[in-house]
Amino acid sequence: MKALIVYDSAFGNTEQVAQAIGGVLGNQEDVTVLRVTDVRPDHWAGVSLLVVGSPTQRFRPTASISALLQGIPINSLKGVKVAAFDTRLTMREINETPVLAFFVRLFGRSAYAAKPIADRLKGKGGELIAPPEGFFVDGMKGPLVQGELERAANWAKQIIVEF
Ligand SMILES: Cc1cc2nc3c(=O)[nH]c(=O)nc-3n(C[C@H](O)[C@H](O)[C@H](O)COP(=O)(O)O)c2cc1C
Repeated sequence: MKALIVYDSAFGNTEQVAQAIGGVLGNQEDVTVLRVTDVRPDHWAGVSLLVVGSPTQRFRPTASISALLQGIPINSLKGVKVAAFDTRLTMREINETPVLAFFVRLFGRSAYAAKPIADRLKGKGGELIAPPEGFFVDGMKGPLVQGELERAANWAKQIIVEF
């Protein structure tokens, strides 16, 4: 069974999470971890598990991740298990910036990248096998908060159980 993990990353934090997830899944599956700009049409062939991760930027996935999701043909993820994650600021940092705090209070989980990614993947026919998850960074450029790579590994183990 083939797994594809696609991520975007401006400062390397989401990439680290993607690699940690790939490390866990790699024990079980044929896994490819790819930056979104490196995905080619042949990478989709035979994929039965698709994990997509993005930094949260302006309450959304990056433009490259959104373009990738938009380009997936309708119903083409039927029979494919899917999961989504993001990286994001901690609530302490969000609360220091009133506009961020306002939108997070207003939109809740939808103010981050993971849930809209999961919704798009489901909308293309994918079967969601883990709750969308966010991993925390300390400041815009990171680093990841201590313990987040371990949390990512545990999230990936949950995917294996469902797969
Ligand atoms: C332009 C920009 C907008 C951002 N907007 C948000 C935001 O709305 N919510 C949030 O939690 N973090 C926001 N962040 C922080 C990013 O989530 C953080 O830079 C990212 O998790 C780091 O991951 P990366 O190293 O993979 O890029 C923003 C960062 C940038 C650069």
